Amino acid sequence: MEYKLQMDTVLVTGASGGIGEAIARCAAAEGCVLVLVARSADKLEALAAELKAAHGVPVRALPFDLGTPGAAAALASALKRRRITVDVLVNNAGVLENAPFVKMPAARHQALIDLNVGALTGLLAALLPGMVARGHGQVLNVASIAAFQPVPMLATYAATKAYVLSLTESLAEELQGTGVTITALCPGITATGMLSGAAEANPALAGLPKFLVGNVEQVAREGWQACRSGQVIVVPGALNLAATVGARAMPKWLLRRLAGAVTRKMSGQAPD
Ligand SMILES: NC(=O)c1ccc[n+]([C@@H]2O[C@H](COP(=O)([O-])OP(=O)(O)OC[C@H]3O[C@@H](n4cnc5c(N)ncnc54)[C@H](OP(=O)(O)O)[C@@H]3O)[C@@H](O)[C@H]2O)c1
Repeated sequence: MEYKLQMDTVLVTGASGGIGEAIARCAAAEGCVLVLVARSADKLEALAAELKAAHGVPVRALPFDLGTPGAAAALASALKRRRITVDVLVNNAGVLENAPFVKMPAARHQALIDLNVGALTGLLAALLPGMVARGHGQVLNVASIAAFQPVPMLATYAATKAYVLSLTESLAEELQGTGVTITALCPGITATGMLSGAAEANPALAGLPKFLVGNVEQVAREGWQACRSGQVIVVPGALNLAATVGARAMPKWLLRRLAGAVTRKMSGQAPD
């Protein structure tokens, strides 16, 4: 196969479905070289074959469980062995658990933190120094609108996303003048496998009005464009944006009480 002139190499974690797969499609359409990472080797191989055929770009599937200890360093070593230089890192892989904090075993909290925080930070630590040394690079960290407020029943998940947003904002300033940019994509509720999984635990999510549920292609497109233009925070959707602006403006005690009241209403408990 004849490839187009080589463009940036983009590594997407969690590329086997949902927002990660949609971001990979955006990057392929732009002519970028792709490295696709997730656990499901079959899905990655199928996507790689499809994107190669459709866009004439080199795409490599690299199956990896990023939730295991030392996974980020092991992935970085695998990239080095294959002489792959990453220009754009899309830190998208993430998991969510919808449950009361006390009903979740400690191991489930830890697994969430290991992937959403540990692997994301490990990949930044492994790949950012090279980007800075080359004076060229971009990072897209996938956070959530949950990063802006407390979310009862998603307490650990929301805390991991607050971490991602905070880390991104700090690094955006540290990286000024280096030629490397970093962006936090903060989607609202989006129609992916993650939402279907959460709806099994919380049926109220299955009945959400359509206008509250984001389209995965639209979310990915806005995130990808923000990353390519070096925007620091992007919140797709006018309603989501309004919610995050409101959350930042509101006194913390009021935001907390509101979040609690909404959660109790959605779970059928007596309101305040
Ligand atoms: N959907 C939403 O409503 C929503 C809203 C805000 C933010 N987000 C964030 O968006 C990101 C993507 O979520 P999504 O909605 O697209 O979810 P999704 O459809 O469930 O996709 C999650 C991706 O992460 C991968 N993954 C999960 N565990 C992994 C592991 N241990 N190692 C490597 N890859 C792993 C999955 O692939 P394998 O199973 O093949 O490993 C899959 O490709 C997450 O960070 C999520 O928190 C989602």
